[in-house]
Amino acid sequence: MENITKIQLGNNGPLVSKLGLGCMRMSSIWGGPTPDETESIATIQEALDNGINFLNTGDFYGAGHNEMLVGRAIKGRRADAFISVKFGAIFHNGQWLGLDLRPLAIKNFINYSLTRLGIETIDLYQPCRMDGSVSIEDIIGTVADLIKEGKVKHIGVSEVTADQLRQANKVYPISALEIGYSLADRQIESELLPAAKELGVSVVAFANTAEGLLTGDMKAPLPQNDYHTHFSRFQGENLVENLKKVEVLKKLAADKGATPTQLAIAWVNAQGAHIMPLVSMSKRVRLPENTAAMNISFSVEEMNLLNDTFAIGAILGGTYLQR
Ligand SMILES: NC(=O)c1ccc[n+]([C@@H]2O[C@H](COP(=O)([O-])OP(=O)(O)OC[C@H]3O[C@@H](n4cnc5c(N)ncnc54)[C@H](OP(=O)(O)O)[C@@H]3O)[C@@H](O)[C@H]2O)c1
Repeated sequence: MENITKIQLGNNGPLVSKLGLGCMRMSSIWGGPTPDETESIATIQEALDNGINFLNTGDFYGAGHNEMLVGRAIKGRRADAFISVKFGAIFHNGQWLGLDLRPLAIKNFINYSLTRLGIETIDLYQPCRMDGSVSIEDIIGTVADLIKEGKVKHIGVSEVTADQLRQANKVYPISALEIGYSLADRQIESELLPAAKELGVSVVAFANTAEGLLTGDMKAPLPQNDYHTHFSRFQGENLVENLKKVEVLKKLAADKGATPTQLAIAWVNAQGAHIMPLVSMSKRVRLPENTAAMNISFSVEEMNLLNDTFAIGAILGGTYLQR
């Protein structure tokens, strides 16, 4: 496996890998079983060995389980890893209850995260959402105070609007925007991506496979107990139509000697030098395939084919990412 390219995070920020490792699916999020921890830790360590240093976790991923897992994986090699943590989501028994972004809650969350991760400083700390009940000034201002205390190095935001990004950046320079982005979800291209570029904010783009839709493995109809069926994108005729679009991706992938997932990641990667695909990988076997995706480029004709097939609105129905 080749070492991965590094990019600068934000304006004059640290160097991080252009491919990020999403750790969320290494824990039970919605109450399902916990994936094999030994394999998850080996995956993180093999990623670090290959220069994939950007690790993404959240204090609510498995109620702290994910941070403890990451902490075990980076023990003795802190300098190899760049740790990105989200906070603010409140879960109970696998159910999302809402957000708590009060300054006093943030000051509480950070200490638990540092303990679970077994580190002194979090490299990138970010509210997982904004909700209007606490001002952006108070949220970002509190994280800025944590920088003064030495508990945090850089501030990020996640799933915000262009206006919220601008407001946050006025309080303190924002290094990264974490946001869902894929061939199937391109709504951010009109306002949010241009705002991030203008402000010098790096884009950490997750859900590149659109919840697995773009892997080419999905078949209609899905089993009734599949969690995807909660979202209209994966139901009935919507899924049938959406999978017809995925056939175009599959054909292009076959022509290029690649997999559909590789093209889905490569397309995100191609959207800009400041855009990092953040990909969930819980097994080592995923790493060579997804790392190789970072070397795939597209001709003008191939890019036009993908952009036309997956034009905004082409994929029917929504997911939890609906904006
Ligand atoms: N800020 C937010 O609101 C937010 C929301 C969701 C996620 N995130 C972060 O973003 C990361 C990525 O998001 P995501 O998990 O939703 O999307 P994703 O990276 O598209 O992953 C979806 C699924 O694709 C699978 N996969 C990966 N490589 C594959 C390959 N080569 N072939 C076939 N399947 C493959 C993964 O399986 P395996 O796990 O089995 O390898 C995973 O179950 C998460 O880990 C998390 O850190 C952030």
